[in-house]
Formats: sequence, C-alpha cells, structure tokens
Amino acid sequence: MFYAQCSGRLFFIFVPMKILMVCLGNICRSPLAEGIMQDKINRAGLEWTVDSAGTAGYHVGEPPHKLSQKVALHNGVNISRQACRQFCIADFRDFDKIYVMDRDNYRNVKQMGGEAWDGQKVSLILDALYPDQEKEVPDPWYGTEKDYHFVYEMLDKACDKILLDLRQLSAKKQ
Ligand code: 4NP
Repeated sequence: MFYAQCSGRLFFIFVPMKILMVCLGNICRSPLAEGIMQDKINRAGLEWTVDSAGTAGYHVGEPPHKLSQKVALHNGVNISRQACRQFCIADFRDFDKIYVMDRDNYRNVKQMGGEAWDGQKVSLILDALYPDQEKEVPDPWYGTEKDYHFVYEMLDKACDKILLDLRQLSAKKQ
C-alpha cells in the first residue's frame, strides 16, 4: 500500500499488499494461515498475495503436514501446492505485513531480522482478535486431527478480522 499527498489531501493508491505468515516449522500453522488468508483475499476480489515461512529450516521444500492439508481441504482450501521455506532477512523488504503464530516466532523473527527488523510490520496473528493479550496459536505438531481443526477455526476467525481491519483502514485513508 502507498499513500500520496496532493493539495493537503491524502490519497490511497491501491497496489497489491503482500502478507507473510510465520511459524516455527512452516509445516502446520503458517501454511494453514497462508491458505485461509489467500482464499479470503481471492473471494474479496483483491489482488493481494500471501506467503508463509518458518523460523527453522527443518522441513524446507516439503509440502504442508498431511493433517493441515486434510483439514484445509475439508474447509474447501487446497494448500497441497505449498512448499516449506525458511524465513529470511529479505522478508522485511518484500512484505508489508508479517503475522506470527506465537511469542517464540516473534522473538525469532526479531533476532533473525537484525537491522532489517521493523516492529510496525510484525504482529501476533491473534492480536487481530484479542489486542494486547499476547494470545498464541497452539502448535499442533504433536497433536491429533482435532488440534488441527481447532487451529483452523482460530486462524479462520483471525483472518476474517485481519481482512476487515485492512480494508477499513484503506477506506478511511481514501
Ligand atoms: P509449525 O509446527 O511451527 O506449526 O509448522 C511445527 C512443525 C515441525 C516442528 C515443530 C513445529 N518440528 O520440530 O519439526
């Protein structure tokens, strides 16, 4: 998003917004967040893009966890074509907004970002629903299918609110 000022008035210029979802492994939570958010964006007719990454590189190149894929598909979202990648410093340059799943992810992104760290861009994803409560999306890695459904519902509600907030923000700025 860019803003331009002309004769004292602020104009909002629509350029595609780029959103990054981050968790530890980029295999369970952030691929779900990417798929859910991209689906909502597409349905809203916006040309924004979403990507995801992990702070660790354990699963680079792998598709999302089978249960993340199953639960996403159960909800009409296909995430099978995603591939795990590790978060990198350039992500601060390439994305407008970075949503992390938990406080460890936040600390890791801050540490990995070094001088590129931009605190304005990074939020806990559940802050959208519960501001200032530092709520976390639980890691379902050692859990059962039920845990993946729980995470899906949580992310679905958070992504609804994020889309609403970002669109309202843009409407106010026009
Ligand atoms: P995620 O879950 O951060 O939601 O992708 C995890 C996936 C893999 C591992 C840990 C968490 N792991 O240790 O391999």
